[in-house]
Amino acid sequence: MCGITGYIGDGIALDDGESAANDGATGDAAGDGGGFARVGDIVHEGLRNLEYRGYDSAGVALVGEASGLTVAKRSGEVDNLTVPDVADAALGIGHTRWSTHGPPTDENAHPHTDCVGDIAVVHNGIVENHEALKTELSDHEFTSDTDTEVIPHLIEEELAAVSGAGGLLDAVRAVESRLEGSYAICAVRDGDDRIVVARRGSPLVLGHDEDATFVASDVTAFLEHTRDVTYLEDGDVASLSAEGVEVYADGELVDRETETVTWEADAAEKGGYEHYMRKEIHEQPESLRQTIAGRLDVDAGDADLDVSFPPGFLADLEEIQIVACGTSNYAGRYAARLFEDLSGVRATVETASEYEFGAGRSPDRTLVVAVTQSGETADTLGAVRRANAAGARTFAVTNTLGSTVTREVDDTAFIRAGPEIGVAATKTFASQVATLTMLAVAIGRERGALAAADARPVLEGLRDLPGAVQQVLDNEDAVREAATEYGDSGAFFFVGRQLGVPVALEGALKLKEISYDHAEGFPAGELKHGPLALVTPDTPVLAVLTDGARADETMNNVTEAQTRGAPAIGCVSAGEEYATLDVSLPVPDVGIAEPLVANVYLQLFAYHVANDKGRSIDKPRNLAKSVTVE
Ligand code: M6R
Repeated sequence: MCGITGYIGDGIALDDGESAANDGATGDAAGDGGGFARVGDIVHEGLRNLEYRGYDSAGVALVGEASGLTVAKRSGEVDNLTVPDVADAALGIGHTRWSTHGPPTDENAHPHTDCVGDIAVVHNGIVENHEALKTELSDHEFTSDTDTEVIPHLIEEELAAVSGAGGLLDAVRAVESRLEGSYAICAVRDGDDRIVVARRGSPLVLGHDEDATFVASDVTAFLEHTRDVTYLEDGDVASLSAEGVEVYADGELVDRETETVTWEADAAEKGGYEHYMRKEIHEQPESLRQTIAGRLDVDAGDADLDVSFPPGFLADLEEIQIVACGTSNYAGRYAARLFEDLSGVRATVETASEYEFGAGRSPDRTLVVAVTQSGETADTLGAVRRANAAGARTFAVTNTLGSTVTREVDDTAFIRAGPEIGVAATKTFASQVATLTMLAVAIGRERGALAAADARPVLEGLRDLPGAVQQVLDNEDAVREAATEYGDSGAFFFVGRQLGVPVALEGALKLKEISYDHAEGFPAGELKHGPLALVTPDTPVLAVLTDGARADETMNNVTEAQTRGAPAIGCVSAGEEYATLDVSLPVPDVGIAEPLVANVYLQLFAYHVANDKGRSIDKPRNLAKSVTVE
């Protein structure tokens, strides 16, 4: 997830007390006590407002009639970037990056340009077919490792073939039809007085001010200047000029509604949500799309995480040991079953702080997989160091490029969930499980343990996951009502079987972490071996009742609890019905990914219970986002 923004207009006179973004490049005084923000200042300010979407490099491209195209970019946070003071700039675009292809270097920072530096492009999303396109562009000079760079070069090709006033617009339209994956793009060109933008799968919103237009991944970028916005739809290409905006869909000029944003500035930083946690829960369709982009080959029944193991290593592999803490540990538990079922390898999960390599194991036949969102958790790093010392091959699944874990393991797969600010992990759990599922398929296929026909339904489930999660999010009101009705209970029990067990554990962790209520998760069959003694009408049971998680047997255990008066809330595969449930929440059919979708209901349940109690949801007491002490 990256942030993109753009502005076309004459600059903005600032009121007394308002400051332009780029302290070094503020333009002329407005003459009445305030200052004046030039195009570069406005784009820079927009990037600061979008930094929550990514912060490992930033850049801008400014276009002025006399100055032409000026590009500035560098690695590091937005404040590391000095935006050039281009006095005649009439339009500009900017980007703040969360790396997916290529490390956060100056070269990989956006904007990217064509061979002669006439065209500049910023991009959010992933161009899945960039390798094929790059091969086609073999006579072009590439200077970065990014997927994005193919876009300006494709535009360059198109412009060489297209002439006339509609040049950049027509070229972007032709190019976007050739891109596979998800993207939001802004393109500018030396000598052109327009910004051309396009979206498919990644958000893009226009802001309308008198004689000026803004564009951004999120209204946060420009909300202090205008509240009149137009949300572009998938497949839209728009041309922004001083005269206004033209939006095209399927080549036809279309009308897109303008609406007024009513959020206050603080809520706007959170995309209109009251808390980052809820925003991040709602980002899951987008973050999951990024996680799987370009990595699934459903037809071939394979997944590609761009990792290669030494020859013979996978064939001889005896054991996968997963090490992780907290939510990442539960993602690991989900994956352990998949490694056994799909990769045909024995898999164990250890709490990282407890991990020792273990006597009697063969280091050269063991893969130790560290799952860590931050890549900085001290307990997990300690486990990786013990595995390395034992001579095992180590592998990280993380969200954070350049994090310590990536420097200490042999291989890394990034989950590409984008920054997560809420202390409670939500979207990163989903992306960890999706990434680990792809790893399990890739290992299974390479070992010959998994037939393409058996891999295909798993990959189809992953492909359909973003849409399924969206359906759950659209049903949030049902969870909110359940939270209001049962949120004041004395304790909560979460149960499931098979892949439902890690989700039950995660559901309980989420609730206790942010609501401070007592919650416990365990395998449903264990209820009768002790915890049933605690069950009363004041202890709701939340159950994962999805296909493949032995739902009927779990329901028997839920009934045992109901017999003792406990209310029961079930996440149930669509089409199934358990008439005695007090609340039934439907889970769309995505095969073995269904418990992961059910988890989104549990995230929302935890959120609403905590919110009703007025808890400090994004920063729960006593907890930190990244725990860097053992
Ligand atoms: O950054 P990591 O994934 O290594 O963090 C591990 C745990 O500290 C983390 O998952 C923690 O349990 C979350 N706050 C749970 O929401």
